[in-house]
Amino acid sequence: MANIAEGGIPSPNIWHHPGIYEMENRAVDPDGVIEPAMRAIRDWAGATVLDLGCGTGFHLPMFAATAARVIGVEPHGELAAAARRRTRELANVEIRQGTAQQVPVADASIDVMHARWAYFFGPGCEPGLAELDRVMRRGGTAFVIDNDGSRSTFGRWFSECYPMIKAPEVDRFWTRRGWQRTALDMGWRFERREDLEAVIRIEFKPADAERIIASHTGVEVDYAINLWSKVY
Ligand SMILES: C[S@@+](CC[C@H](N)C(=O)[O-])C[C@H]1O[C@@H](n2cnc3c(N)ncnc32)[C@H](O)[C@@H]1O
Repeated sequence: MANIAEGGIPSPNIWHHPGIYEMENRAVDPDGVIEPAMRAIRDWAGATVLDLGCGTGFHLPMFAATAARVIGVEPHGELAAAARRRTRELANVEIRQGTAQQVPVADASIDVMHARWAYFFGPGCEPGLAELDRVMRRGGTAFVIDNDGSRSTFGRWFSECYPMIKAPEVDRFWTRRGWQRTALDMGWRFERREDLEAVIRIEFKPADAERIIASHTGVEVDYAINLWSKVY
C-alpha cells in the first residue's frame, strides 16, 4: 500500500509515472513565460514560499534560489521522499507530507503560495481555500496554475477529453472568490517525438491519447494556462 496522507487525491500521471512526469515538467514552458508573470505579480525574494502539492519538488530549486525559506507539501510519501532527495543540498528547503486540506504549517506564516496542477482545480477545492485563509500572511499572495480549456491546442484536447470540466465554470469559481486571472500562452517542447507521445499517454485515456497522437505532428504543442492569483 502506498503511503498517502488522508485527503490526497489520486494523480495518476505523477503517482504512476514519475519519470515521464519529470520529462513533462522539463518540456513545459520552454520560453519561460510563467516565472516572470508570477514575479511581476509578487516576487518571492526573501519570502517564505509554500509549494502545495509539490510532487517530486521540480519547482522547489527555482523558488529556493531567492526565497528565504521554501516548504514543499505533498501527500504521496514516495514523491515527498523524491522531493527531499532533489533538495537535500538546499538548506532553506523543507518537505512535509500533508495536504491542501490540512496544511502542516502555522497560521499566518506564508508569504507566497504556489500550487501548479495540484488540488486547486476550481469547484471542490473549498477546504484548501479555507486553509489558505488560515496559513497566508496578511499581504501574502497565492498562485494557482491550471489549464485553460477555452484556448490553444492543448486546451482543445483537454476540453474534449474532460468535458465535465467546463472552463467558464472554473473561471466563475475563482473570480467570485476574488482571484485575478492572468491568461498565459506557453507550450510544451520536447527533444524527441517519443517523449511527447509518452507524456500524452499519461495525461489522457488510452483511446484519447492515440487519437491525439495521430492528429498532431512534431514535438511542440501550444498550451494556454491560467495563472490565478490572490492577495490575502
Ligand atoms: C500533477 S501533480 C503536480 C506536481 C507538481 N506541482 C509539479 O508541477 O510538478 C499533482 C500533485 O498534487 C498532489 N496532490 C494530490 N492531492 C493533493 C491534496 N489533497 N493536497 C495537495 N496536493 C495534492 C499529488 O500527489 C501530485 O503530486
